[in-house]
Amino acid sequence: MQKIRFGIVGCGKIFDRHAEAIKANSENAELFAVSDKNMERLEEIKNLYPTVKTYDSYEAFLNDSDVDMIVICTPSGLHAQMAKAALEKGKHVLCEKPLAMHPDDLKELNALAKEKNLHLFEVKQNRYSPAIKILKEALQQGRLGRILLGNATVRWNRTEEYYNQADWFGTLKMDGGVILNQAIHHIDLLCFMMGTPKSVMGIAEVLNHDIEAPDTALAIVRFEGGSLGNLELTTCAAPTNIEGSITIMGDKGTIKVGGKSLDNFDIWQVENYEKPQIPDAQFSNHALLYKDIISLFAGENIGNLINAEEALKSLQLAQAIFDSAKEHREININPA
Ligand SMILES: NC(=O)c1ccc[n+]([C@@H]2O[C@H](COP(=O)([O-])OP(=O)(O)OC[C@H]3O[C@@H](n4cnc5c(N)ncnc54)[C@H](O)[C@@H]3O)[C@@H](O)[C@H]2O)c1
Repeated sequence: MQKIRFGIVGCGKIFDRHAEAIKANSENAELFAVSDKNMERLEEIKNLYPTVKTYDSYEAFLNDSDVDMIVICTPSGLHAQMAKAALEKGKHVLCEKPLAMHPDDLKELNALAKEKNLHLFEVKQNRYSPAIKILKEALQQGRLGRILLGNATVRWNRTEEYYNQADWFGTLKMDGGVILNQAIHHIDLLCFMMGTPKSVMGIAEVLNHDIEAPDTALAIVRFEGGSLGNLELTTCAAPTNIEGSITIMGDKGTIKVGGKSLDNFDIWQVENYEKPQIPDAQFSNHALLYKDIISLFAGENIGNLINAEEALKSLQLAQAIFDSAKEHREININPA
């Protein structure tokens, strides 16, 4: 198989994780080109990766016919328009979370990708966490019995200095606050475990930062089938991060995945099912995601990749939390 040539747009903080993940898959993947509007950063990249092509114009980058897949790592509010431009140029797209800031934009992208017969995936690398995979398998095997309650908790600390790092951090349009930036992973995992959300009551506020987007959100969710969920999401935990976790409670047991980064069982109380050993990670979760892309290009199935339809579930729930907070009422979520 020919190596897949990846082109990354946006060479900021998350860039390294993608470059390393591609390197970890170097038998089948290559970082072929990058694009950024910051010329200084492009100079650094040229020194670090002398063989990689660099573009300061996104348009010229998209016109490079040797790039197979565009990887979008720019500020979140640019994702949808950049993904649209890439799909229109006939490129497959892998996009950092969130793939779009609003469900309507995501639906439009999904339709375009389908029309053009192109791949469109979102990066939510926690789906590759071994502990998360074990929890999902336990649910699929019915080990927790009838699922009653699910919880997502994010009690993280983000300082004022953190929000001042880049002008887009903490804005509604480009970042989306704790709901669309930090906790979208946990919102996704709650939907992954609990199924499709039907309705939500939410509150979203700025409690302790000088930012526009909410640093705290609380929500109560009804899922299809009658189970319930609740979310406590904040970047106001003091003085440091406390918790990022998912808990699923059924009538036969409870599993809570927490740890430093969803990599440990904080609770494992399951009738007749002993806690399995979590395997040591051989690859980063980003590298595992790239492995799935390579397998897909080689003709295998989608694996754990999140396509636009799957990404829509958590984005619809996230948007409904915003809407509920604004309108002070329970919001029904209409499945796409
Ligand atoms: N999966 C994860 O866990 C995870 C972690 C961190 C960030 N992210 C996501 O990655 C994305 C980027 O985050 P970051 O922290 O790396 O941001 P950043 O601000 O550090 O980097 C953004 C980069 O994009 C470039 N850029 C901005 N506008 C551009 C344009 N129009 N054309 C080309 N380049 C442009 C900037 O110059 C900068 O180099 C965000 O969407 C964020 O949500 C995901």
